[in-house]
Amino acid sequence: MCVREVAVYRRQSPADILWNNLSQPGLTIPSDQAGYQPDPAALMQRFHVFSSEGRWLHGAPAFALLWARLGRSWRALALIGRLPGGLRVMDAVYGLFLRVRPRMQELVRHLVREQWLPAQMIPALRSDHAGETGAVWIYRMMLALQRDPGLRPLLEEHAAQERQHLDAFNTLLPWRHRSRLLVLWRIAGAVTGMVAALGGRRWTLATIAAVERFVDRHYLEQIEDLQWPIDSLRGDTAALQPALNNCSTGWCEPANPGSQDDRLRELLALLVSFRNDECRHRDDATRALDDHRAPGLTDLASQPATLGDRALSLWCMLVERGSAIAVRAAKVI
Ligand SMILES: [Fe+2]
Ligand SMILES: [Fe+2]
Repeated sequence: MCVREVAVYRRQSPADILWNNLSQPGLTIPSDQAGYQPDPAALMQRFHVFSSEGRWLHGAPAFALLWARLGRSWRALALIGRLPGGLRVMDAVYGLFLRVRPRMQELVRHLVREQWLPAQMIPALRSDHAGETGAVWIYRMMLALQRDPGLRPLLEEHAAQERQHLDAFNTLLPWRHRSRLLVLWRIAGAVTGMVAALGGRRWTLATIAAVERFVDRHYLEQIEDLQWPIDSLRGDTAALQPALNNCSTGWCEPANPGSQDDRLRELLALLVSFRNDECRHRDDATRALDDHRAPGLTDLASQPATLGDRALSLWCMLVERGSAIAVRAAKVI
C-alpha cells in the first residue's frame, strides 16, 4: 500500500492497530502459530494483516478485517466479506485494482507533475516524442516484413534503442504536451518501414540512413538551442560529462530534482546521447549499404544509374522531406 493510502486508513484506525513500513531497516516479520513467515518481497505485492490471534491474512480477508475496525462506512464495506463468495469477489476486484494501479499512478503523475520544462522547449520535445513514435513503428514494420536474415541483428539493436528513446520522452513529456496526431505518426512510421522492408535490403538500409540523417540534424538544432542558455548560466560544459555517461543507455530521472539548471543539463545530456545513437544508426546503415552496393550506385543523392536507383533516390528524398514536414507539424499540433 502506498503512503497516501495508508494515511487515509491511519486517520481513523484505532490505536491498537500497528502500521509497519516494510522498507524500514531491521523490521522483524512475525511467524504465525504454524511457523509461516511470509517473504518481505511477497508482502510488498499485496495488502496483508497480522491479526491479534497470530494469523497472517492477505488480500481481501486482510481488508475485511481492517475495515471492520474502522468507521461506519468502512464497516459496511467489510460486510461484503461475510456474504457467500464475498471474499472471492473482493479478491478479484483487488487483483484488478493492482493491475490498473500503475497506470492510475502514472495518470496522476502526469496531471500533477511539476512543470519544469522551459516553455520554448516544449514544441521541440513534442516533435522528438512524435519522431521517436514514428521511429519505433518504422523499425517494427521493418522487423516484421524484412526477408533478409542478415539485417535482423542491426534492426533489432536499432529498434531497442528507439524504444528506449520513446520511453524517455514518455517519462519526460506530460500527456498534455504530446502531439494530437500520434496516430498519424504511427501510421507514417509503419508505412515508411513497410515500403522500405518490401523494397529489400538496399531500400531498408537507404531508408534508415535517410531518416537518421534527418534526425541527426533535428537533435543537433535542439542541442545548440539548449547549450547556449546553459553555457551562459554557468559557462561550464565539462560538468556535463558525468550526466552524459549516466544517460548513455537511455533516460535517467534527474539525480537532483531540486534545481532547474541541473534538469536542463540532464535534458541536454539526454539529447546529446540520443543524437549519438541516431548517428550510429545512420553510420551502421551506410556501412552495410556500402558492403552491398549495387553496381552503378555511387551515391543515392547524385546521378543514380538505373531506374531502380532513381526510384530509391526519390524515395529517400521523400522520406527526408516528409520527416521535416512531420516535425514542423508536430511542433504545432
Ligand atoms: Fe531515436
Ligand atoms: Fe534512430
